[in-house]
Amino acid sequence: MSKYMRSMKGLIDAVDHVGKNFISINDMSNEQLLNLFELGKELELFNRSKVDLFDDRMLALMFFQPSTRTRMSFQTAMERMGGNVIVENTPQTTSSIAKEESLADMLRCVSQYANVIVLRHPNDVDAREGASYSSAPVINGGWGHWEHPTQALLDLYTLWRKFGHIDGLKVTVAAADMIEARTGHSMAQGLARLGAEVTIASPKDKAVPREVIENIKKNYPNAKLEEAYDFEKDSFNEFIRDKDLVYLPGCSAPAGATAEAFKKVMDDYFVKHETLDEEREKGHMIYVTHTLPRRAGEMDLAIDDTPNQLCFESILHSVSIRMALLTAILGA
Ligand code: CP
Repeated sequence: MSKYMRSMKGLIDAVDHVGKNFISINDMSNEQLLNLFELGKELELFNRSKVDLFDDRMLALMFFQPSTRTRMSFQTAMERMGGNVIVENTPQTTSSIAKEESLADMLRCVSQYANVIVLRHPNDVDAREGASYSSAPVINGGWGHWEHPTQALLDLYTLWRKFGHIDGLKVTVAAADMIEARTGHSMAQGLARLGAEVTIASPKDKAVPREVIENIKKNYPNAKLEEAYDFEKDSFNEFIRDKDLVYLPGCSAPAGATAEAFKKVMDDYFVKHETLDEEREKGHMIYVTHTLPRRAGEMDLAIDDTPNQLCFESILHSVSIRMALLTAILGA
């Protein structure tokens, strides 16, 4: 066995997650997450090349909601490692779900083909119940309004690669609706657990679910996790001046009569590129990332042309950290 493969095997052993589900960011301890980041760094070699690690393994992608990034980066990750992929993109019309098959039966069957499954689903209760029938490990690719833990993994990994650590970083997770922001729920917990100083900013009537706060307070009493409510654009831009990262999990304006009122609230959490430029000139970098997809009005697109944006850097990191997660689950 080469020195490289021994190092990989050591890291897989250290992550200690072979054969297990990854449904919540809390499914791994801090030590496991940091070992997973080390594994991701080792696998960066194969972001744009191929290695035959898993030519006998099959990944099933079951996506009950639209996706570009999560679906394609998992497929890229598996294929870069020599593995095979089966995809169900439109199960509501092309699978036996259209014939009223249950998700439980579908997962029972697909787990006989696949060694690991990524499931995206609009209802986290149904997804959790369905996953319990799978004989192969299941990865949450975004479930309802609950969690999207692999998005948090890639954003945490991007920060870790940028700063070399997560502890001590000042971060705000901000949205006009933090109730439905599943990426925000996973990321806020991951950041706080790993020692960042986190403030979740939102309107008070759209505050993050209590479960997110209580999980952290109960299990990590020393974590620094606060909430701040009801900003307006100017006060929000003042608030972010001392932050290292502004994390925008995004939200959709509802259709219909309330759309315009909601868009005005979205404006209150709009990061102005002038704020970032002024701080950068003083020597302080405020990174900004949006988990994508984004819509016009959610963030200042002028930030894309500055060194402050992390959205697209994180896309490349998404392949290495998803390679690491698949490797940690599939084993050496
Ligand atoms: N960030 C994210 O989950 O993007 P997709 O919906 O394109 O997968």
